[in-house]
Amino acid sequence: MNTLLEIKDLNVSFQGNENENKTGNKNETVAAVSCLSLSIREKETVALVGETGCGKSVVAHAIMRLLPPESRVKGRIEFGGKNLLELSEKEMAKLRGKEISIIFQNPSLALNPVYSIGHQLAEPLRIHGQEKEEVKGKKKTKALSKVVEALKRVGFSNPQEYMGYYPSWCSGGMNQRFLIAASTMLDPVLLIADEPSKGLDRSRVAELENELKGLKEKSETSLLLISHDLGFVRQIADRVAVMYAGEIVEIATPSTLFESPLHPYTQGLLNSLPENGFVPIPGSSPPLSSPPAGCRFHPRCPSKEKRCTQEHPELKEGNGRAVRCFLCP
Ligand SMILES: Nc1ncnc2c1ncn2[C@@H]1O[C@H](COP(=O)(O)OP(=O)(O)O)[C@@H](O)[C@H]1O
Ligand code: SF4
Ligand SMILES: [Mg+2]
Repeated sequence: MNTLLEIKDLNVSFQGNENENKTGNKNETVAAVSCLSLSIREKETVALVGETGCGKSVVAHAIMRLLPPESRVKGRIEFGGKNLLELSEKEMAKLRGKEISIIFQNPSLALNPVYSIGHQLAEPLRIHGQEKEEVKGKKKTKALSKVVEALKRVGFSNPQEYMGYYPSWCSGGMNQRFLIAASTMLDPVLLIADEPSKGLDRSRVAELENELKGLKEKSETSLLLISHDLGFVRQIADRVAVMYAGEIVEIATPSTLFESPLHPYTQGLLNSLPENGFVPIPGSSPPLSSPPAGCRFHPRCPSKEKRCTQEHPELKEGNGRAVRCFLCP
């Protein structure tokens, strides 16, 4: 499989973080993502997991170039022979939604309440100039049929009925499916799903998971899945990258990762699952404005040695996996 997207040494920091009101320190720098390298191959599903605040959404937004102006971004994000970080806003706008698309966390914020679902689903066609050829005259039916097709793909058996609905008429689960339909309207080669099940009730989560599975089976799209749900990650991902405090600490296939996790943090994450006895990792993640010296996980690590408090371990690759820990081969 060819590489579709390659992130090389990505560093993202924020000057004057969102806690500045609490700390009063406007000059504090938050290093949200540090030296992160990760590739996604064609048709591959890569999952990004880790505790809240470890930098997962920042990676997603860096790929989409949707980080706020106060962010400092370094490194390369190679896609189709180009570095996305060097594209002009105009060039990037051509890719967004068409080649790389994102499903955001909160459907009620991502959908516009004043437009009908049908109108919003046709939006990507309008943005990418396909409206002119396809909505005017005879070709109008083609645009309509694309919207109908997309709605069918996410499980609506009578799509015509829903085209005139407004987001407020629909449940959170339905709106999430509309968003997936909108994100996949133009058959992107890469779809990013940033905790798409957050805030949905259990039955909706199961539905959403089925949509994503169906999408993976039916389309050629690569998927970057950011999720808390390790059970789902295990079912759907081809590779899993575990993040801790802005860094990747382990990458492996789900079977390898879940059966023989190497990094003490990954082991801790798995032990905290209900089926493994719900044993929480002691302590909490460090503030990214002042991560600990040495291994960032050392204050919480049951296996730490003296050097772990002083030296920073590199991510070492071998046998198709990668791990950042002095104790691992
Ligand atoms: N716009 C911003 N300004 C300042 N800090 C930010 C901003 N966005 C994210 N951060 C910080 O970056 C870190 C990573 O955030 P995020 O990627 O959202 O974590 P998560 O893994 O939960 O998705 C957090 O410490 C967060 O507070
Ligand atoms: S490098 Fe040391 S502190 Fe870090 S995870 Fe490995 S054993 Fe624990
Ligand atoms: Mg997030």
